[in-house]
This record gives sequence, C-alpha cells and structure tokens, in this order.
Amino acid sequence: MQSRREFIANSSRVAAAIAATGSAASPLTGCGRYAAIPAVMPASFHDVSGSRSLRANAARHGLVFGSAVIIHNVQTDPDFAELIAEQCGIVVPTNELKWVALRPAPDRYDFSRPDFLLSFAESHRMLMRGHNLCWHESVPAWIQTPENRPRARQFFIDHITTVCSHYAGKLQSWDVVNEAINPGDGQPGGLRKSFWFEQIGPDYIDLAFRTARAADPHARLTYNDYGVEYDNANNTEKRRLILELLRGMRQREVPIDALGIQSHIKAAQPDKIGKGLADFIEAIRQMGLEVYLTEMDVNEDDIAADDPVKRDSIVAQTYADYLRIALASPAVKLVLTWDLSDRFTWLDSGPTHHRKQPNRPQRSLPFDRDYRPKDAFFAIRNSFDNRPEL
Ligand code: XIL
Repeated sequence: MQSRREFIANSSRVAAAIAATGSAASPLTGCGRYAAIPAVMPASFHDVSGSRSLRANAARHGLVFGSAVIIHNVQTDPDFAELIAEQCGIVVPTNELKWVALRPAPDRYDFSRPDFLLSFAESHRMLMRGHNLCWHESVPAWIQTPENRPRARQFFIDHITTVCSHYAGKLQSWDVVNEAINPGDGQPGGLRKSFWFEQIGPDYIDLAFRTARAADPHARLTYNDYGVEYDNANNTEKRRLILELLRGMRQREVPIDALGIQSHIKAAQPDKIGKGLADFIEAIRQMGLEVYLTEMDVNEDDIAADDPVKRDSIVAQTYADYLRIALASPAVKLVLTWDLSDRFTWLDSGPTHHRKQPNRPQRSLPFDRDYRPKDAFFAIRNSFDNRPEL
C-alpha cells in the first residue's frame, strides 16, 4: 500500500517526467513523445495538488470547495493537516462550535479549538464557516435543569451574541439555525419540537438570526437542513416547508443570506435527484439567497457488493449525478464535504450502518483512509470542470 508521503513523492516524480517531455497537455496517452510514461496509471498517480486540487478547480468555476474537519485531527496529524490545506478553500469545525463543545458550563466558553482552526485557515488562505448556533442536538445538560430551563431565552441570546462577537468579521458564514423543520412533530409550519422551540416558542428562529446579525454584520447567515435532495414525497414536503419558512422570514425582514443544503446523499438509492432539487434551488435563488452544499457525503451501506472498486465507482457516480443538478445553478457558491477522508467519516458510527454493514468501513469521501484520492475525488473535480458557464 502506498502511503500519502509516497503518493506525493510519486506524483511529483510523474509531474517531473511530464514536464521533461515538454508538455503536460496529455500525459496519459502513452504514445509518441509520452512513451516514457506508462499508458495506464493508477488514479493515485494523477496529480491532485496545486492547480489540480479540488480547491483550485472549484475556484475556476465560481465555487469555494472545502470540508468539515475534526480539529483534533488537524492538530495531531500533519499529513491530514497538509491534505486539508492543499484541497480546501474553506473549513468548518465538525463539532467544536456546537453548544456542548463550546459551552461546558453556563459561565464558561471554550474557544481554544475553533480559534486554532481559524488561525490554521488564515495561515493557509482558507475561509472558515461556523456550525452552528442553534440545533435540537448538542443542547447541554446544564441548560435543561429545572432552574435554568426558564432562562433559556436569555442564555440563547447571550450565547449567540458572545460567539458571533468572538468571531465577528472573521467567518465567511454561520449556520445560525440547523434542522428546524421536522413535519412529523405536528407543529405549525412543520417546525421541530426542539428544546429551543419549546422553551422560547416558534420565533426562536427569527431571534437567532437577528441576534447573530447584530453581533457580526459580515458573516453570511445561513439556515441549514437535510432531507431536501430527492424527488420523493418526504423531501418534497420538506422543501415546501423550508420555502415557506424562508419566505416568512423575508417578509418579516429577518436577516438571512443563504440556505445550506446538507447533501448527505445515498448510493444505491431508488429515489431520484432531479427536478425537485433544481426547482428548489431556483426558488431560493429568486429570493436573492445563496445556496451552500454544506455537508456532502455518500452513504454507501446499501451497496450489496463488497468489492471496493465497484463501491468506489458507484459512490463517484452518485456524486456526479448530484452535482450535475446542484451546480447548474449560479446560486450555489460553496461545496463542502463532511470530512475529506474515509478515516474520519461520521457514517461509520451511525446505527443504520451498524445494522446493515457492521464490518465494512464506509468509502464515502473523496480520499481513502490513507489520504489517497479515490474515484469520488475525480468525479467531484470533473463536476466542477463541467459546470456550465454561468
Ligand atoms: C455530526 C458529527 O459528524 C458527529 O461527529 C457528531 O457525533 C454528531 O454530529 N448534520 C449536521 C452535523 O448538521 O452537525 C452532524 O454532524 C451530521 C448531520
């Protein structure tokens, strides 16, 4: 197995060999003056860095590409840090800005890890976004005690004000409210019966956005959700409810700049991605909002075959099909995967995965567990390159 360092060394040798032929135009043809270069090279020998990175290819097509990262991994694994700096134009902390991580006690904030990531991002000329200020998960136990519960609204305002002020002017965007719609809860507008909904009331969403804008006028304020990608009944209903929510916010002059579509998609999924998503993105564009693909990955635990070659090819095709629809709209400005390497994917810890494929680590992301690029990398990069001129 080739390690990442060997891969980089090999890539540079190949690049040098290509340069020696006098042209990098078509290094893989294996004929004529390229005869010195093997006709068929494994994908891992392609040059995937510098001008051929996801970051650079995205930038050439009006996009910023990036990834969620578990900050500890950047701090402790230099190869991973290098991979992130090479491939990403933007990063987002996976968990470290969520309430439970950031606010261990009512009077204590721990900004150390996200501050580290911000300086790492700045030193590599990457942007950073924030995730998230408000979610039904990651609600600390201390706020749910009988004595603190009634003070939830004040804690909420203080939290958003403190966190947004801490990073004011430094973040590209904030996921202000995450996953607020869940029609199954039977509330008006399909609002989820979260802790915040129950303690503050349905206007907690407006309150979050207004408070965030007051503390940081520069970050693009985003509503982020999942379950809107497919042409099926559930996703259609969720799209309708999100549009209703966002239109209402617009009417009430609540400050909002973007919709985040999480983009957790599935391989081997019978439902299609097509007109529903395209029309949805167009409706968001017409409202004057940007669209960010915030947490893209491909869950492949429905693929029956174990063969990694086959799985990689299906995963890659799933990315290609999704991005062909999503990137057709000029409203889409950011594309982030939910981590960059299979080594750190959250999908391996999901209950569904344990039921379906307990012994099979997911091959969901552009880079494998040893940080080598997979078919998914090339599919995503091609999708950027094939983006229609906008
Ligand atoms: C996930 C993280 O990846 C996990 O490490 C954590 O245990 C739970 O949260 N939608 C979101 C993200 O908005 O915050 C979630 O991240 C994945 C689903």
